[in-house]
Amino acid sequence: MSKSNLLKELYSNIGTTGALTFSSKSLVKKMLSYSELSKAKLIVELGGGDGSITQGIIDRMGEESELLVFEINPSFCKAMEAQFPQENVRVINDSAENIDLYLKGRSADYVLSSLPFTLIPKEATDQILIKSKNALTPEGKFIQICYSYLLKNLFKKYFDSVEANFTLKNFPPAFVMVCR
Ligand SMILES: C[S@@+](CC[C@H](N)C(=O)[O-])C[C@H]1O[C@@H](n2cnc3c(N)ncnc32)[C@H](O)[C@@H]1O
Repeated sequence: MSKSNLLKELYSNIGTTGALTFSSKSLVKKMLSYSELSKAKLIVELGGGDGSITQGIIDRMGEESELLVFEINPSFCKAMEAQFPQENVRVINDSAENIDLYLKGRSADYVLSSLPFTLIPKEATDQILIKSKNALTPEGKFIQICYSYLLKNLFKKYFDSVEANFTLKNFPPAFVMVCR
């Protein structure tokens, strides 16, 4: 799918995508600077969208690493499947609420999310954040891109420590929340 069609898909599903544009390369770089993906065995991405973060993860992860990408929009999934045919990358057209069904007891080193939590119903948010926390190894990190500092309070309910990092290198300016 072309960049302009991906953007049309983003706008026309604003109620579930929650964004007017995709993450910039600088924001992806900033987000991934809080991880050591080359050492990770299992990485989970929530809300793959156009694959902008996915590409950044793939560029940094090791050959032995495995990446699971959750995305509810079927058109985005189709485009990502075509863009990322690697055997160690799996695009899953299902809600992040169901991560446990796909991990099957395995633990992830990182859960990297750009989900629009301000739009996701409370019960689903609860499921996603509880399951993400449970999915992580003891040293694992949940890293979230968001546009509101207030979301820090949400993540603090589920994680012991939450560090908010601000960046102007995106439109709109964003926060990278690093949760353990
Ligand atoms: C703000 S966009 C981010 C897209 C891209 N990763 C980026 O950073 O530009 C959020 C994405 O999350 C997806 N999404 C929303 N709710 C979801 C859910 N419950 N499970 C999985 N994906 C979801 C949307 O369809 C959308 O593609």
